[in-house]
Amino acid sequence: MNLNSLKIAPSLLSADFGRLAEEVRAVEDAGADWLHVDVMDGHFVPNLSIGVPVVASLAQYARRPLDVHLMIDNPEKYVEPFAEAGADSLTVHYEVLGQRLPEMAARIRELGVRPAACVNPPTDVEGLLPYVRHFDMVLLMSVNPGFGGQSFMPNVLPKCRKLAEFIAAEGLSCDIEVDGGVNAENAAELRAAGATVLVAGTTVFGADDYAAAIASLRGE
Ligand code: DX5
Ligand code: ZN
Repeated sequence: MNLNSLKIAPSLLSADFGRLAEEVRAVEDAGADWLHVDVMDGHFVPNLSIGVPVVASLAQYARRPLDVHLMIDNPEKYVEPFAEAGADSLTVHYEVLGQRLPEMAARIRELGVRPAACVNPPTDVEGLLPYVRHFDMVLLMSVNPGFGGQSFMPNVLPKCRKLAEFIAAEGLSCDIEVDGGVNAENAAELRAAGATVLVAGTTVFGADDYAAAIASLRGE
């Protein structure tokens, strides 16, 4: 059984970038456990977003861990700068690294950062299972990455159950994070399926009351 407690990680991609410090403070005060930071390179995903200097600025005033999701083609080049900028976890994609995942996990760990591995909706979780023991977290995408505000893809639920069973059977201590289209309704299914970290952009930053939105994801 995975004893990791549930964490809510608002995705800053949906925040008002012109008031980023204020937005961070607001979600922290509203009960956010982590801050999810989406890094996009315009190659691995068809969009550009946040880079190293923004993470460095965030690290100066964030009071919660920075959970940095690297949707980029060449993480080898960037894990060190993101670690130096103050990332607390770095998530790399299985689709990018394949069998180079263990080497990357070790490198991220050497930098003093928690390593995480991610699979996109079309990728089966089976291929990732042999690598799970190298990571502190697996991120299951529930939308095709690149944009906030997309609809949740329910095919993540059986993947989440399978992964949770594997983690329990192997006696591993590994978080399961789900990212994309997460709202109060599917959050209940995700918690039941074994998810321990829920990322939410639109559901939190699109709400008038951030605290109520975060509480709804916890099922409160
Ligand atoms: C998608 C990003 C997500 C996104 C989630 O590429 O990885 O983190 O910001 O946003 P919502 O919750 O709006 O789907
Ligand atoms: Zn993300």
